[in-house]
Amino acid sequence: MEKLSLPKSRIKILLLENVHKSAVELFKRNGYTNIESVPGAIDADELVAKIKNVHIIGIRSRTKLTKDILTAAPKLLTVGCFCIGTNQVDLKCAKKLGIPVFNAPYSNTRSVAELVLAEIIMLFRGIPQRSWGAHEGEWDKSVKGAREIRGKTLGIVGYGHIGTQLSIIAEAMGMQVRFFDVIEKLALGNARATASLDELLSVSDVVTLHVPETPQTKNMMTAAKFKKMKKGAFFINAARGTVVEIDSLADALKSGHVAGAAVDVFPKEPADGNEKFKSALQGLRNVILTPHIGGSTEEAQANIGGEVAEKLVKYSDNGSTLGAVNFPEVQLPPQEDATRFMHIHRDTPGVLSKITDLFSRRKINIAGQFLRTDGDIGYVVTDVKGRVEAGMGIRKELEAIEGTVRTRFLYEAPRG
Ligand code: NAI
Repeated sequence: MEKLSLPKSRIKILLLENVHKSAVELFKRNGYTNIESVPGAIDADELVAKIKNVHIIGIRSRTKLTKDILTAAPKLLTVGCFCIGTNQVDLKCAKKLGIPVFNAPYSNTRSVAELVLAEIIMLFRGIPQRSWGAHEGEWDKSVKGAREIRGKTLGIVGYGHIGTQLSIIAEAMGMQVRFFDVIEKLALGNARATASLDELLSVSDVVTLHVPETPQTKNMMTAAKFKKMKKGAFFINAARGTVVEIDSLADALKSGHVAGAAVDVFPKEPADGNEKFKSALQGLRNVILTPHIGGSTEEAQANIGGEVAEKLVKYSDNGSTLGAVNFPEVQLPPQEDATRFMHIHRDTPGVLSKITDLFSRRKINIAGQFLRTDGDIGYVVTDVKGRVEAGMGIRKELEAIEGTVRTRFLYEAPRG
């Protein structure tokens, strides 16, 4: 037999930084038993020594996977970032080495939506200033400025994962939802799109941002935009700090044009708990400030464990790269009684035909073939019926194709 995929018991998985146990459970459910979980981060020298024999590594934000570390990992198949961000990994280097990196961008969607809904209620009831006052001995029982959210208009900027989730729960609370997105989106429930951001700002009783950080969204909310909001409306930002001119928001709050705000993200955030947090919004009694915790819940952590582990298992088991942040994305069907040949190469013309040719010269019928390239890397997956016998030299010839970065083989026996 041609040497096929490594048995799962020999695939070594190293999980650092207290990755949630939901990940370990998922690996085990899928037959992976060789798992080492380390509670904290480990220093670079120790990691270089450890990573030599590792096939799959799971990290969170404190482990830096630099070029030095990645090149010290000849067996490394894939990396899982059990968090949202991936800038702790040298993604370009990983790609060059043929290592897809996965993360969990949507595990905390619900957590953000719930917090925003809670903040809408708090702002409409004037709770921030009343809570602040009560701590100082005030007893303000007046109904002035305390309103229900039922029937009010919520304006959502960015109708993606979080925006749509919020749309549904806000409608369930009786709000009317309007949204603005740069892409045409299917409106859920009774929500309706506005033709422009300005229109959305002018009709909403509360505006909430759920856009990504891009050159187009940088300083999207300027002094002029805050003026376009209804007088007395509320403003929420749990997206990214760079989207809002924070001094303009502070001015709009001080002038009373914006009646209150909830802000979770800031243009400048402390690097860690030792650095002091400073913001132009501090001291404003009608503002809820939170330290970028919109997505930080126990449920989100558990979801992240499952979501990332699932992507790693899919890649290891069948070569799917859907959701990879640094790699051409290929979603592959399950195999049955088939051999799957995976070929990662530098993106140069002619590789696919060389691969196809080596099968046709052996009179092997290709059952399915998938190709994705992204200008740097090409990923070709070729499925062949049955188990390919030894002596054909397919692997050797695939590896000899100019520009090859790595190859992998998987055989899946017939089910039942
Ligand atoms: P998503 O990618 O699912 O949705 C973003 C939406 O914004 C898309 O529909 C996109 O078309 C739209 N969009 C992009 N540019 C736009 C523009 N200029 N104007 C209007 N719409 C625009 O993203 P998701 O998961 O909903 O997250 C949204 C934001 O929330 C991200 O920036 C993310 O970083 C942030 N976030 C914050 C967290 C926190 O802890 N506060 C936790 C999770 C996400």
